Amino acid sequence: MVTGAAGALGTDLVRVLTADGERFHAYPRADLDIADAEAVEAAVAGWAGGADEPCVLLNAAAYTAVDLAETDEQAARTAHAVNAEAPGLLAAACARHGARLVHVSTDYVFDGRGPDGRPGAGYEPDDPTGARSVYGRTKEEGERRVREALDAHHVVRTAWVYGDTGSNFVATMARLAAQRDTLDVVDDQHGSPTWSADLAAALVALGRSDAPAGTLHATGGGATTWCGFARAVFAELGADPDRVRGCTTDQFPRPAPRPAWSVLSPASWTAAGLAPLRDWREALHEAVTRHPGLLGR
Ligand SMILES: NC(=O)c1ccc[n+]([C@@H]2O[C@H](COP(=O)([O-])OP(=O)(O)OC[C@H]3O[C@@H](n4cnc5c(N)ncnc54)[C@H](OP(=O)(O)O)[C@@H]3O)[C@@H](O)[C@H]2O)c1
Repeated sequence: MVTGAAGALGTDLVRVLTADGERFHAYPRADLDIADAEAVEAAVAGWAGGADEPCVLLNAAAYTAVDLAETDEQAARTAHAVNAEAPGLLAAACARHGARLVHVSTDYVFDGRGPDGRPGAGYEPDDPTGARSVYGRTKEEGERRVREALDAHHVVRTAWVYGDTGSNFVATMARLAAQRDTLDVVDDQHGSPTWSADLAAALVALGRSDAPAGTLHATGGGATTWCGFARAVFAELGADPDRVRGCTTDQFPRPAPRPAWSVLSPASWTAAGLAPLRDWREALHEAVTRHPGLLGR
């Protein structure tokens, strides 16, 4: 069962499960509001209740308007309902009906200064969290509620996700490349671009595996900055990457603080016996080849 099925990740989860011939129910928000306790109970009971095979719920639903959640009280309340409370509802329903839950979380649960307060290594799942934004704190609370309500859970933190639906960094850079001679892009935030198709395949593999319950990290391999990511998009366009100029976070203040260090270590993922996601640069090439629309073609 997939929730948030019309989002970037949800769309790719549906594609992967369809390609694999898996039997599944996919719920876009219009069909299931995960913050609605009764609707969640009915959906999980209908799918997992009495099933004679193991059922896995993949939760790709979230409130992801990071800046709005920081500045708007109603948005912050919605973020709390969807990101903090709803995962607890999903987990409790899974517990009642014998299903497992794969719940997706984020690098924003960390304070973004790096493990032990300095950048360098990737964060491990056990490193102390300390979200600095409303969005991050709601996701942190959602993780906690999942762990509390259900033993058979996987909390999977990811970062810098792009797909081929909605607005996303790749499509935005491609559009700006056509409009401007040069572009200033932040060069002091580090992370690992993660193609939603690769993440979806990895989450489905996790759902089928017997990996022990707990928290895992999964992002594209390697790391770069937003500037490095933008230059790679320019290279894919056949445009001169030097048209992208590095700038600092201070030059682009945003309502919600961005983590300077978002790199997540893949060690927990591989230790669970799962194949690591491919290098982010290779994935980007495949993404724009499969979805030329990302480059405006
Ligand atoms: N994108 C990133 O860079 C990133 C980074 C780290 C972690 N993540 C995590 O990855 C997961 C997937 O995110 P994404 O990138 O696919 O985001 P997305 O494209 O914004 O998808 C989220 C989906 O959840 C839906 N949703 C919102 N409220 C809902 C509700 N009450 N009930 C059911 N569905 C609801 C949204 O529907 P509407 O569009 O109709 O509101 C949207 O389709 C999330 O857990 C997110 O926190 C994302």
